[in-house]
Amino acid sequence: MFPKKVSIVEVGPRDGLQNEKLALTAAQKINLIELLSDTGLERIEAGSFVSPKWVPQMANSDEVFKALDAQAGVQYSALTPNLKGLETAIEAGVREVAVFGAASESFSQKNINCSISESLKRFEAVFSMAKENDIKVRGYVSCVMGCPYEGEISPEAVAEVSKSLIDMGCYEVSLGDTIGVGTPLKTRLLLESVLKEITIDKLAVHFHDTYGQALVNLYTALEYGVSTIDSAVAGLGGCPYAKGASGNVATEDVLYMLDGMGVSTGVDMKALLRASSYISDILGRAPISKAANALLAK
Ligand code: HMG
Ligand code: MG
Repeated sequence: MFPKKVSIVEVGPRDGLQNEKLALTAAQKINLIELLSDTGLERIEAGSFVSPKWVPQMANSDEVFKALDAQAGVQYSALTPNLKGLETAIEAGVREVAVFGAASESFSQKNINCSISESLKRFEAVFSMAKENDIKVRGYVSCVMGCPYEGEISPEAVAEVSKSLIDMGCYEVSLGDTIGVGTPLKTRLLLESVLKEITIDKLAVHFHDTYGQALVNLYTALEYGVSTIDSAVAGLGGCPYAKGASGNVATEDVLYMLDGMGVSTGVDMKALLRASSYISDILGRAPISKAANALLAK
C-alpha cells in the first residue's frame, strides 16, 4: 500500500558535498541550504561533525550551522560519530543529529575506525548526551545491500544493527545502500527482514544510484509503505570510504516520481531546480538527474 505522503530528507549538503574534490566555502553551503529551505523540504542534513583529517570537506560545518537561521518548519541535522562530534554540534546550535553504523565489519573499520560493536558502544555516550540536551538522534546503517569490501551482506545482519539502534534511542533508522548495488528483489528481501524487527514508521531508505537502480528500489520500498526517503539535490553524493560509490538518488527524480504517483511531499519542483542549478553551476557540471535536465531544458 503506497503512502499518501512522503517525507523527503535532503542529504545533498552533507552526503552530496563530503566527497567533492572542490570543498565548498561556508557561504556557498549556506546559500545552497537556504535555497533548499525555500522548496518546502522539511528535513535537511546540513553537515557533519567528523574528523577534518578524515573528511576535510565537512570541516566548516560549525560555521554553517552557526549562520543558519532556523527557518520555521525546517529541521536541520548533522552527522555525529562520537561524543566529540556531538559536543561541537551542540555548540554550533544543532538540534538533531545522526549516528552512523554499518552492517559490514570491514566498512565499519574503514569508515569510522572501529568494529560494529565498538561503534554501538561509542553511540551509547552520544545517546546519553543527546537525551540530556533534548536532541533527536537518527541512525544510519550502511552497506544494507552490499559492501565494497565484503560483497554480499545478509538482510539479517542489517535487521540486527537496525534494531540495536532503535533500542538505543534512535527515533528512525535510515537504510543506506552505500554503493547502490541493490535491485528490487534485494530491496524486498531486505525490508522483509528489517520489518520483522522494527516498525515501518521508524524506517527510512537512503539509496545511492551507482547502478541506476535507486528509483525502482524506492518504488519497491514505497510498496511496503516506507514513507521517508533520503535523496540529494542534483544527484550529488558518495562516500569517501566506499570506492566507486556515486551519487545519491537525485531529489528532483524522486520528486518527479512522487508527484506523478499523486504522493504528496510539500516540495516545489521549480524552487528545487533553483537549488539544483545553483550547486551545479558551482561544481561546473549539469545535475545528475534526468528530471532536472529535462525540466531545465524547457
Ligand atoms: P579515530 O581516528 O578513530 O578517532 O577516528 P580518535 O577518537 O582516535 O581521534 C583521532 C583524532 O580525530 C583526534 O585528533 C581527535 O580529536 C579527532 P588529533 O589528536 O589526532 O589531532 N576527532 C575529531 N575531530 C573532529 N570531530 C570529531 C572527532 N572525533 C575525533 N567528531 C572518527 C574516528 C569517527 C572520528 C573518524 O573515523 C571519522 O571522522 N570518520 C568519519 C567518516 C565519515 O564522515 N564518513 C562519511 C559519512 S558516512 C556515509 O556517508 C554513509 C551514509 O551516507 C549512509 C550510506 O550511504 O550508507 C551516512
Ligand atoms: Mg550515503
